[in-house]
Amino acid sequence: MCTADEADNPHEEEEEAIVRRSNIEIETGLHLKEDKQWIFFTIEESRKLIYLHGALCESLRLLPLVALEHKDPIRPDILPSGIYLHQNSRVIVSFYLTGRKETVWEIDFLESKPERWISPCGKIKHESSYKFLVLNVGPRTCLVKEMAFI
Ligand code: HEM
Repeated sequence: MCTADEADNPHEEEEEAIVRRSNIEIETGLHLKEDKQWIFFTIEESRKLIYLHGALCESLRLLPLVALEHKDPIRPDILPSGIYLHQNSRVIVSFYLTGRKETVWEIDFLESKPERWISPCGKIKHESSYKFLVLNVGPRTCLVKEMAFI
């Protein structure tokens, strides 16, 4: 048996645990004081927030802000896969679907697991932009890739 709220969001408990752990990391990592409402921090300081980085990556992976990317070739072209593109064709890449592919994300691919982004030695585990597409890849990559996380 589950309540109506649990049925609406079966992952509610896990999500709350992620938010709690992220908050603890922010409080300890940035040395927040209880009486301070606002705090300013540098990019270097934000890099200490390893778990939060993982939580943000998982949010973007499962619910990308830009869900679909499309490109139109200016002349006929052939994709590396061998697919021929007519000049008037349109290529649509779903960041939403690529973020949820089992062959790409493997274990628990539909679940938010910030640990996925943490290396065995506790550092940020970087993934190739060709795997984690949400900020785009190649010459049209999001210009504020680093800043977007702040
Ligand atoms: C988490 C937040 C963000 C996400 C997911 C995101 C995602 C993207 C994506 C997918 C593109 C490629 C668009 C395309 O070519 O079709 C892009 C481009 C771009 N983004 Fe972001 N973005 C984010 C935040 C920001 C912010 C905060 C800024 C500016 C303050 C920004 C500035 C830009 C600019 C200027 C481009 C164009 C790059 C170019 O075409 O050369 N983005 N972003």
